[in-house]
Amino acid sequence: VKAEKGGYDHFMLKEIHEQPRAIRDTLTGRVKGGQADLSREIALSPEEIREIERIHFVACGTAYHAGLVGKYVIEELVRIPVEVDVASEYRYRNPILTPRTLVVVVSQSGETADTLAALREAKKAGSRVLAITNVVGSTVAREADDVFITQAGPEIAVASTKAYTSQLIAIYLLGLYLARIRRTRSEAELAEVVKHLEELPELAERTLEMEDTIRRLAAEIAKKEDLFYIGRGLDYAVSLEGSLKLKEITYIHSEAYTAGELKHGTLALIEEGVPVIALATQTSLYDKMVSNIEEVKARGAQVLGLALEGDAELHKLADEVLTIPRTLSFLTPVLTVIPLQLLAYHACVARGYDVDKPRNLAKSVTVE
Ligand code: G6P
Repeated sequence: VKAEKGGYDHFMLKEIHEQPRAIRDTLTGRVKGGQADLSREIALSPEEIREIERIHFVACGTAYHAGLVGKYVIEELVRIPVEVDVASEYRYRNPILTPRTLVVVVSQSGETADTLAALREAKKAGSRVLAITNVVGSTVAREADDVFITQAGPEIAVASTKAYTSQLIAIYLLGLYLARIRRTRSEAELAEVVKHLEELPELAERTLEMEDTIRRLAAEIAKKEDLFYIGRGLDYAVSLEGSLKLKEITYIHSEAYTAGELKHGTLALIEEGVPVIALATQTSLYDKMVSNIEEVKARGAQVLGLALEGDAELHKLADEVLTIPRTLSFLTPVLTVIPLQLLAYHACVARGYDVDKPRNLAKSVTVE
């Protein structure tokens, strides 16, 4: 059985470590001449791509969190308004769908009932549906107009890891491709992003090297019953995913909060010894994050900071700091999520729970 897990104790750990490979494989064949090329995945003509007026990301769970990153990325690169919805909400809220709406459904399995129902709703309304899925021939892949297959490979652990980072890569490529056709960014700017994208497998590899430190920190986290994740911008989107990972396998209650919103409620829960994981990888928001961390420190929080290599300020403030390699600010989610996955994993092992099969959860939810 251990052989099946590639020598790892659990599928989740194996899958976390497969991320550099999954990222590389998802990029393969989709970059040509230094530019993203999705002409094989997306059959829309340049004319049709220029006519898109809005984009909706619709998904569940971890795939929904990938969609949240998608909003920042696509709006930044392409300047098209993007909405992100949980599939089980989307279908019942009468979304505004037109033939000029591109609906991107994101689903690892391609079989999630709510996501599938949202896809059908969008098609009925005459919108164009692009599926980002990990499974060739899945129902979502068969019913969508266009399909981007992530190359994560089979994901067995219920808690999704490599599927998420592969979905992020798909989203970056989509943003780059749309930006190129709509000419919202120059070829040179886009080539620069592509160059950084291609460095991610190696940077992910380096990020995985902090596992020993994380194991030690996870042993402490494993003793807690409540925890907070804070971040701004893309760091907030990743906080949500980090919090979900922890909840689903360790059963520790955790909440992700936008750091700027703390003062409107959650700050009341911060007292002596409360663990707070603070993400501060977004350069333009760094100073704001530092003040938010000061706010929670002043109330006795035990802060684990997540920053970029070479960080100066956080080390003075936080109790512990983990750093990720530097890349473009909007590519950091691919790296930032890795220590959070490892933290959840090792905390789960420390607590002695079943990593790959958490209670009450299923890998693929094919009922509503
Ligand atoms: C289940 C899994 C999650 C997953 C979600 C969406 O709840 O436990 O890990 O993110 O379904 O799955 P999908 O296959 O549509 O990405």
